[in-house]
Amino acid sequence: MRIILLGAPGAGKGTQAATLNEELNAPHIATGDLFRAALSQGTPLGLEAKSYMDRGELVPDNVTVRMLLERISQPDAADGYILDGFPRSLAQAEALDDALKSRNENIDKVLLVDVSEDELVRRLSGRWICRTCQKPFHVINNPPKKDGLCDVCDPEDGELYQRDDDKPETVRNRLGVYQDQTAPLIDYYTAQGILTSINGEQEIESVRADLLAALE
Ligand code: AP5
Ligand code: MG
Ligand code: ZN
Repeated sequence: MRIILLGAPGAGKGTQAATLNEELNAPHIATGDLFRAALSQGTPLGLEAKSYMDRGELVPDNVTVRMLLERISQPDAADGYILDGFPRSLAQAEALDDALKSRNENIDKVLLVDVSEDELVRRLSGRWICRTCQKPFHVINNPPKKDGLCDVCDPEDGELYQRDDDKPETVRNRLGVYQDQTAPLIDYYTAQGILTSINGEQEIESVRADLLAALE
Protein backbone atom coordinates (compact mmCIF):
# COMPACT_ATOMS: atom_id res chain seq x y z
CA MET A 1 0.00 0.00 0.00
CA ARG A 2 1.12 3.55 -0.73
CA ILE A 3 -0.04 5.76 2.12
CA ILE A 4 0.30 9.45 2.93
CA LEU A 5 0.11 10.68 6.53
CA LEU A 6 -1.08 14.27 6.33
CA GLY A 7 -1.18 16.60 9.31
CA ALA A 8 0.17 19.78 10.86
CA PRO A 9 3.56 19.98 12.61
CA GLY A 10 3.19 18.09 15.88
CA ALA A 11 0.09 16.16 14.83
CA GLY A 12 1.83 12.84 15.51
CA LYS A 13 2.80 11.74 12.00
CA GLY A 14 6.25 10.53 13.02
CA THR A 15 4.95 8.90 16.21
CA GLN A 16 2.34 6.89 14.31
CA ALA A 17 4.49 6.05 11.29
CA ALA A 18 7.15 4.58 13.58
CA THR A 19 4.79 1.75 14.57
CA LEU A 20 2.54 1.57 11.48
CA ASN A 21 5.57 0.67 9.35
CA GLU A 22 6.02 -2.59 11.30
CA GLU A 23 2.32 -3.42 11.13
CA LEU A 24 2.13 -2.73 7.38
CA ASN A 25 5.64 -3.95 6.58
CA ALA A 26 6.30 -0.79 4.58
CA PRO A 27 9.13 1.72 5.00
CA HIS A 28 8.46 5.00 6.81
CA ILE A 29 9.68 7.80 4.54
CA ALA A 30 9.76 11.25 6.15
CA THR A 31 11.20 14.14 4.15
CA GLY A 32 12.04 16.04 7.35
CA ASP A 33 14.01 13.02 8.62
CA LEU A 34 15.80 12.75 5.26
CA PHE A 35 16.80 16.44 5.42
CA ARG A 36 18.00 16.10 9.03
CA ALA A 37 20.02 12.98 8.12
CA ALA A 38 21.60 14.85 5.18
CA LEU A 39 22.43 17.73 7.51
CA SER A 40 24.06 15.51 10.11
CA GLN A 41 26.23 14.08 7.31
CA GLY A 42 27.07 17.63 6.21
CA THR A 43 25.99 17.14 2.59
CA PRO A 44 25.16 20.14 0.32
CA LEU A 45 21.51 19.03 0.34
CA GLY A 46 21.46 19.08 4.14
CA LEU A 47 23.08 22.50 4.33
CA GLU A 48 20.66 23.95 1.78
CA ALA A 49 17.65 22.49 3.62
CA LYS A 50 18.83 23.80 6.98
CA SER A 51 18.41 27.45 6.02
CA TYR A 52 14.71 26.85 5.29
CA MET A 53 14.07 24.48 8.19
CA ASP A 54 15.55 26.93 10.71
CA ARG A 55 12.98 29.51 9.61
CA GLY A 56 10.13 27.01 9.47
CA GLU A 57 9.77 27.55 5.70
CA LEU A 58 9.35 24.79 3.13
CA VAL A 59 12.46 23.63 1.33
CA PRO A 60 11.93 24.45 -2.40
CA ASP A 61 9.70 21.97 -4.22
CA ASN A 62 12.24 20.97 -6.89
CA VAL A 63 14.82 19.94 -4.29
CA THR A 64 12.27 18.09 -2.15
CA VAL A 65 10.53 16.32 -5.03
CA ARG A 66 13.83 15.09 -6.48
CA MET A 67 14.93 13.70 -3.11
CA LEU A 68 11.57 12.00 -2.48
CA LEU A 69 11.28 10.42 -5.93
CA GLU A 70 14.79 9.09 -5.54
CA ARG A 71 13.88 7.58 -2.16
CA ILE A 72 10.72 5.85 -3.35
CA SER A 73 12.67 4.28 -6.20
CA GLN A 74 14.75 2.27 -3.73
CA PRO A 75 14.05 -1.49 -3.66
CA ASP A 76 12.55 -1.46 -0.15
CA ALA A 77 9.79 0.88 -1.40
CA ALA A 78 8.82 -1.25 -4.40
CA ASP A 79 5.68 -2.65 -2.75
CA GLY A 80 4.61 0.45 -0.88
CA TYR A 81 5.53 3.00 1.79
CA ILE A 82 4.21 5.41 4.37
CA LEU A 83 4.95 9.03 3.47
CA ASP A 84 5.26 11.45 6.40
CA GLY A 85 5.64 15.16 5.68
CA PHE A 86 5.36 14.79 1.91
CA PRO A 87 3.63 16.17 -0.09
CA ARG A 88 3.33 19.56 1.59
CA SER A 89 2.24 21.76 -1.34
CA LEU A 90 -0.03 21.34 -4.34
CA ALA A 91 3.00 21.36 -6.64
CA GLN A 92 4.51 18.44 -4.68
CA ALA A 93 1.24 16.49 -4.76
CA GLU A 94 0.95 16.96 -8.51
CA ALA A 95 4.57 15.99 -9.10
CA LEU A 96 4.03 12.83 -7.06
CA ASP A 97 0.83 11.95 -8.94
CA ASP A 98 2.59 12.47 -12.30
CA ALA A 99 5.55 10.32 -11.31
CA LEU A 100 3.29 7.53 -10.03
CA LYS A 101 1.07 7.66 -13.10
CA SER A 102 4.08 7.13 -15.37
CA ARG A 103 4.76 3.90 -13.44
CA ASN A 104 1.11 2.82 -13.42
CA GLU A 105 0.94 3.31 -9.66
CA ASN A 106 -1.20 5.42 -7.37
CA ILE A 107 -1.63 6.54 -3.76
CA ASP A 108 -4.07 4.19 -2.03
CA LYS A 109 -4.96 6.23 1.03
CA VAL A 110 -4.37 9.64 2.60
CA LEU A 111 -4.84 9.72 6.38
CA LEU A 112 -5.32 13.17 7.86
CA VAL A 113 -4.31 13.35 11.52
CA ASP A 114 -6.38 16.24 12.84
CA VAL A 115 -5.23 18.15 15.97
CA SER A 116 -6.13 21.62 17.26
CA GLU A 117 -3.56 24.40 17.21
CA ASP A 118 -3.26 24.75 21.02
CA GLU A 119 -2.48 21.07 21.36
CA LEU A 120 0.09 21.23 18.52
CA VAL A 121 1.99 23.94 20.37
CA ARG A 122 1.92 21.92 23.63
CA ARG A 123 3.23 18.84 21.85
CA LEU A 124 6.08 20.54 20.00
CA SER A 125 7.31 22.42 23.06
CA GLY A 126 7.64 19.14 25.02
CA ARG A 127 9.13 17.02 22.24
CA TRP A 128 12.50 15.26 22.48
CA ILE A 129 13.91 13.24 19.58
CA CYS A 130 16.45 10.45 19.31
CA ARG A 131 19.62 11.59 17.57
CA THR A 132 20.07 8.15 16.00
CA CYS A 133 16.65 6.82 14.94
CA GLN A 134 14.65 10.11 15.13
CA LYS A 135 11.88 8.55 17.24
CA PRO A 136 9.92 11.34 18.98
CA PHE A 137 9.15 11.34 22.73
CA HIS A 138 7.27 13.85 24.88
CA VAL A 139 8.17 14.90 28.41
CA ILE A 140 4.59 14.41 29.62
CA ASN A 141 2.58 12.53 26.98
CA ASN A 142 5.12 9.94 25.93
CA PRO A 143 8.21 9.96 28.16
CA PRO A 144 11.19 7.69 27.45
CA LYS A 145 11.77 4.82 29.90
CA LYS A 146 15.09 6.39 30.91
CA ASP A 147 15.62 10.14 31.17
CA GLY A 148 17.25 11.59 28.05
CA LEU A 149 17.66 8.22 26.29
CA CYS A 150 15.78 6.57 23.43
CA ASP A 151 13.91 3.35 24.31
CA VAL A 152 15.02 1.75 21.04
CA CYS A 153 18.67 2.82 20.73
CA ASP A 154 19.65 2.97 24.43
CA PRO A 155 22.28 2.53 25.76
CA GLU A 156 24.68 2.80 22.81
CA ASP A 157 23.74 6.02 21.06
CA GLY A 158 20.18 7.00 21.88
CA GLU A 159 20.73 10.55 23.11
CA LEU A 160 17.56 12.67 22.97
CA TYR A 161 17.64 16.29 21.77
CA GLN A 162 15.20 19.11 21.03
CA ARG A 163 14.84 20.19 17.39
CA ASP A 164 16.02 23.75 16.61
CA ASP A 165 12.75 24.40 14.79
CA ASP A 166 10.67 23.61 17.90
CA LYS A 167 11.42 27.09 19.30
CA PRO A 168 8.10 28.96 19.88
CA GLU A 169 8.60 31.59 17.13
CA THR A 170 9.58 28.96 14.54
CA VAL A 171 6.66 26.75 15.57
CA ARG A 172 4.28 29.65 14.92
CA ASN A 173 5.73 30.10 11.45
CA ARG A 174 5.51 26.37 10.68
CA LEU A 175 1.84 26.33 11.65
CA GLY A 176 1.19 29.31 9.34
CA VAL A 177 3.03 27.63 6.48
CA TYR A 178 0.95 24.50 7.05
CA GLN A 179 -2.32 26.48 6.82
CA ASP A 180 -1.23 28.37 3.68
CA GLN A 181 0.57 25.72 1.67
CA THR A 182 -0.28 22.25 2.98
CA ALA A 183 -3.92 22.44 4.15
CA PRO A 184 -5.13 22.87 0.52
CA LEU A 185 -4.09 19.24 0.02
CA ILE A 186 -7.10 18.21 2.13
CA ASP A 187 -9.42 19.32 -0.68
CA TYR A 188 -7.08 17.91 -3.32
CA TYR A 189 -7.20 14.38 -1.89
CA THR A 190 -10.85 14.62 -0.82
CA ALA A 191 -11.68 15.28 -4.49
CA GLN A 192 -9.78 12.10 -5.38
CA GLY A 193 -11.93 10.20 -2.86
CA ILE A 194 -8.97 8.75 -0.94
CA LEU A 195 -8.79 10.93 2.20
CA THR A 196 -9.93 9.83 5.66
CA SER A 197 -9.74 12.22 8.61
CA ILE A 198 -8.74 10.81 12.02
CA ASN A 199 -9.12 12.54 15.38
CA GLY A 200 -5.45 12.96 16.35
CA GLU A 201 -6.30 14.39 19.76
CA GLN A 202 -6.63 11.07 21.54
CA GLU A 203 -4.20 8.71 23.26
CA ILE A 204 -1.43 7.54 20.92
CA GLU A 205 -2.85 3.98 20.97
CA SER A 206 -6.38 5.15 20.04
CA VAL A 207 -5.07 7.23 17.14
CA ARG A 208 -3.17 4.16 15.96
CA ALA A 209 -6.32 2.01 16.16
CA ASP A 210 -8.32 4.55 14.13
CA LEU A 211 -5.58 4.75 11.50
CA LEU A 212 -5.48 0.97 11.15
CA ALA A 213 -9.29 0.81 10.95
CA ALA A 214 -9.24 3.39 8.14
CA LEU A 215 -6.81 1.18 6.22
CA GLU A 216 -8.94 -1.98 6.42
P1 AP5 B 1 9.11 17.65 9.54
O1 AP5 B 1 10.24 16.97 10.19
O2 AP5 B 1 8.23 16.87 8.63
O3 AP5 B 1 8.26 18.35 10.65
P2 AP5 B 1 6.69 18.70 10.72
O4 AP5 B 1 5.82 18.38 9.59
O5 AP5 B 1 6.70 20.10 11.15
O6 AP5 B 1 6.11 17.68 11.67
P3 AP5 B 1 6.71 17.24 13.01
O7 AP5 B 1 7.77 16.23 12.81
O8 AP5 B 1 7.04 18.47 13.81
O9 AP5 B 1 5.40 16.62 13.68
P4 AP5 B 1 4.86 15.13 13.67
O10 AP5 B 1 3.48 15.17 13.09
O11 AP5 B 1 5.82 14.15 13.10
O12 AP5 B 1 4.69 14.91 15.23
P5 AP5 B 1 5.43 13.89 16.24
O13 AP5 B 1 5.02 12.49 15.94
O14 AP5 B 1 6.88 14.19 16.32
O15 AP5 B 1 9.65 18.88 8.69
C1 AP5 B 1 10.58 19.78 9.25
C2 AP5 B 1 11.01 20.80 8.21
O16 AP5 B 1 11.61 20.13 7.08
C3 AP5 B 1 9.88 21.62 7.58
O17 AP5 B 1 9.53 22.74 8.37
C4 AP5 B 1 10.50 22.00 6.24
O18 AP5 B 1 11.41 23.06 6.39
C5 AP5 B 1 11.27 20.75 5.86
N1 AP5 B 1 10.45 19.81 5.07
C6 AP5 B 1 10.07 18.55 5.42
N2 AP5 B 1 9.30 17.99 4.46
C7 AP5 B 1 9.20 18.92 3.47
C8 AP5 B 1 8.50 18.97 2.22
N3 AP5 B 1 7.75 17.93 1.79
N4 AP5 B 1 8.61 20.08 1.47
C9 AP5 B 1 9.34 21.13 1.87
N5 AP5 B 1 10.00 21.18 3.05
C10 AP5 B 1 9.93 20.09 3.84
O19 AP5 B 1 4.70 14.31 17.61
C11 AP5 B 1 4.92 15.57 18.19
C12 AP5 B 1 4.99 15.45 19.72
O20 AP5 B 1 3.70 15.06 20.21
C13 AP5 B 1 5.96 14.37 20.22
O21 AP5 B 1 6.59 14.85 21.38
C14 AP5 B 1 5.05 13.16 20.52
O22 AP5 B 1 5.59 12.36 21.56
C15 AP5 B 1 3.75 13.84 20.93
N6 AP5 B 1 2.55 13.08 20.54
C16 AP5 B 1 2.35 12.42 19.38
N7 AP5 B 1 1.12 11.86 19.33
C17 AP5 B 1 0.52 12.20 20.50
C18 AP5 B 1 -0.77 11.93 21.07
N8 AP5 B 1 -1.70 11.20 20.41
N9 AP5 B 1 -1.06 12.44 22.28
C19 AP5 B 1 -0.14 13.16 22.94
N10 AP5 B 1 1.10 13.44 22.49
C20 AP5 B 1 1.43 12.97 21.27
MG1 MG C 1 7.78 14.28 12.27
ZN1 ZN D 1 16.54 5.87 18.84
